[in-house]
Amino acid sequence: MTGCVGLLTLLCLLLVSESDSRRFDFEAGASISFDNRPGLGRLFDGIGGLSGGGATSKLLVNYPAKERDQILDYLFKPNFGASLQILKVEIGGDAESTDGTEASHMHNSWDENYQRGYEWWLMKEAKKRNPDIKLYALPWGFPGWIGQGHRSPWTNVNVTADYIVRWINGAKVHHDLNIDFVGIWNERMYSVDYIKRLRSMLDERGYQKTLIIAADVKWEIAKDIESDVALRKAVHAIGCHYPGTKSSATAVSSGKQLWSSEDYSTFNDEVGGGCWARILNQNYVNGHMTATISWNLIASYYKGLPYYRDGLMTAVEPWSGHYEVETPIWISAHTTQFSSIGWKYLSHGHGVGHLPKGGSYVSLTDPAVKQLTIVIETMTHDHSKCIRPALPKYSVAPQNVTIVLAGNFNNISQMNVWYSKLKFDGSKSIMFQKQNPLKFKDGKAQVSLGLDEVITLTTLSAGQKGQYSDPPKPMPFPLPYKDNFESYSLYKEPANLAPQTGTYETLISNGNRFARQMQLVEPVRWCKADGIDKSISVIGNQSWKDIYVEIDFQLSTVNGSKGAFVAARVDQGGCVAFLAHGIFFFAFPDKFILANDLARVTVLKEGPLSFKLGEWHKLSLLIQNGTITGAFDGKTVCTVGMPRRPANGFAAIGTDTFGLADFDNLYLASAAEGQKRMSYFFRDSVSISHN
Ligand SMILES: *[C@@H]1O[C@H](CO)[C@@H](O)[C@H](O)[C@H]1NC(C)=O
Ligand SMILES: *[C@@H]1O[C@H](CO)[C@@H](O)[C@H](O)[C@H]1NC(C)=O
Ligand SMILES: *[C@@H]1O[C@H](CO)[C@@H](O)[C@H](O)[C@H]1NC(C)=O
Ligand SMILES: *[C@@H]1O[C@H](CO)[C@@H](O)[C@H](O)[C@H]1NC(C)=O
Ligand SMILES: *[C@@H]1O[C@H](CO)[C@@H](O)[C@H](O)[C@H]1NC(C)=O
Ligand SMILES: *[C@@H]1O[C@H](CO)[C@@H](O)[C@H](O)[C@H]1NC(C)=O
Repeated sequence: MTGCVGLLTLLCLLLVSESDSRRFDFEAGASISFDNRPGLGRLFDGIGGLSGGGATSKLLVNYPAKERDQILDYLFKPNFGASLQILKVEIGGDAESTDGTEASHMHNSWDENYQRGYEWWLMKEAKKRNPDIKLYALPWGFPGWIGQGHRSPWTNVNVTADYIVRWINGAKVHHDLNIDFVGIWNERMYSVDYIKRLRSMLDERGYQKTLIIAADVKWEIAKDIESDVALRKAVHAIGCHYPGTKSSATAVSSGKQLWSSEDYSTFNDEVGGGCWARILNQNYVNGHMTATISWNLIASYYKGLPYYRDGLMTAVEPWSGHYEVETPIWISAHTTQFSSIGWKYLSHGHGVGHLPKGGSYVSLTDPAVKQLTIVIETMTHDHSKCIRPALPKYSVAPQNVTIVLAGNFNNISQMNVWYSKLKFDGSKSIMFQKQNPLKFKDGKAQVSLGLDEVITLTTLSAGQKGQYSDPPKPMPFPLPYKDNFESYSLYKEPANLAPQTGTYETLISNGNRFARQMQLVEPVRWCKADGIDKSISVIGNQSWKDIYVEIDFQLSTVNGSKGAFVAARVDQGGCVAFLAHGIFFFAFPDKFILANDLARVTVLKEGPLSFKLGEWHKLSLLIQNGTITGAFDGKTVCTVGMPRRPANGFAAIGTDTFGLADFDNLYLASAAEGQKRMSYFFRDSVSISHN
């Protein structure tokens, strides 16, 4: 009896192990075929990064030249780092557009200037490194005059189209930049009339080659395109934001190229890398999207502003030169270093699809269908969540697959292998490592896939993991900090001062350079929040508590702002900058106001002042040991106990209303330094003069 049971058990075990091993054999051999014969898929339009929307490259501009060049190489240099194929930029609109404002080329209807801001510079640096990079431009806010008193840029579509086409013309005439693509209005209502008018105006003015991507919202414009032949002709590709790798059926059948024209926006740690790897593949696998653009290109805005570090890499310390090459740079490289715009995807089921046990693969081939690049990702759910939209549950398991090359690819004998594995156990991730080539026998090879991996198999041999020696060590924002603006080119934005509303640029008068707040009226806002009629530029460190802030200012006699301020402990920027709390010391021609918030809802102290428009004066604010001291031209005008909140925040300067105001000789120091300065330099207040 016992023996029989024993025998049965043994038989059972044999049977089980046999069927297990058969299953194993099947799994080991799960075959995926890569074949051009059933026809190719869509044209590949590239992987890109978005500078702006808004002010996301702010701190990059004044990096030391050496580190700045290195950073730009990691982003744009072919076969080095991210090797981006598309650079998308904001068309500055003088309005807050997430992490700051970017300057318009036409602050007013009578004004036109193509030297403002940093996007021109960035586009030229990108082109210098990769002449084939495509440029794509999109507005967020617009200067107020565009709306003609309304909150919409569609009040008069001719005016808005003229404004945008002037920017495209300015790019050509002043910077020799061809803008390949232009969008409509970031994530806001589009106007079909406007899109048609923009197309006709581009054509009239010789910009037939500048193509329209519409509408940088979701997929809804696909419906309009379906029913409107003229619109269909005007639009080159449909751009959707944060599609979650899905597109609509109408979009797919529209015959238009589909772009994820803004995506990612995720903290750039290992999970961020996982998000980027998953969407770069699955935007095509699930959604037939042929371009994916990261918001943002580079996280170069202060910690404490919204979406800190949601870029492909991080550079927030121009004073030290420190920067971080983050995982998304190398994830990008897996596709960009082994493909070109104009290549095609293979078709679904023949080189594009989901892996049997989770994960995905895409394949790209050159126009001659000779080269083949396969990108495989096996990102697990929790290690590849993006900021939005929510990611439905799915599972991924380790798996072995057999790669079967067919058609034109049948006689490939080996492929180069590039490998990344994101680690979540505290050990260092493996990023973009070149491994031994994969040998093919009769067009077949086995690949073993683990979790959270990206593997590129390619016939190209060009890849390179670019590497510079370690950047300088991080350092806190340096104090004392002085800026007299004498070192800037005209119209450039002051370094490190990050405008959250209003627009500041360097001008010159009697040989003296200074920063002027340029904006006269409320912009056509991009932010949904209402905002207030004040400008504010933040600087320094959101963790600052006790601090000294000093600035010279003058209110213009023509179109002037009503007042100017210095501030400390400013607790927020971005779309809600107007709700900022802090210590705000305002000067008006007839009074000063010390307030606990930018909107001046909570006034801490008010008193008389007397000065004229068109004269320089000095404002000083000291927060030390629970006491606030405000001084005007070196004379203390108020001493007030520090309210409970905020406990910390940025330093700032700004204006009470939009309107012209000039600033010079910014000086930030520790409270101890500031106190010495106030008691020593300011002891003879008559000697205060502006130079
Ligand atoms: C816009 O321009 C077109 C073409 O020049 C013209 O026909 C139309 O009347 C203009 N519309 C407005 C509101 O100015
Ligand atoms: C893949 O194949 C290798 C042997 O080639 C084997 O050791 C491994 O267990 C297999 N992995 C899976 C998930 O089947
Ligand atoms: C593979 O075969 C094609 C013709 O089918 C030929 O043009 C190509 O040169 C071959 N490549 C190699 C590496 O043998
Ligand atoms: C900001 O201040 C905090 C607190 O003093 C400090 O730890 C941090 O290094 C500073 N960072 C920068 C970028 O200045
Ligand atoms: C002031 O505003 C008026 C329009 O209101 C404009 O014509 C004039 O050029 C402006 N002057 C300056 C210096 O901004
Ligand atoms: C600040 O206050 C502390 C005690 O609360 C005192 O020791 C220190 O000297 C004060 N510093 C200044 C500069 O007044």
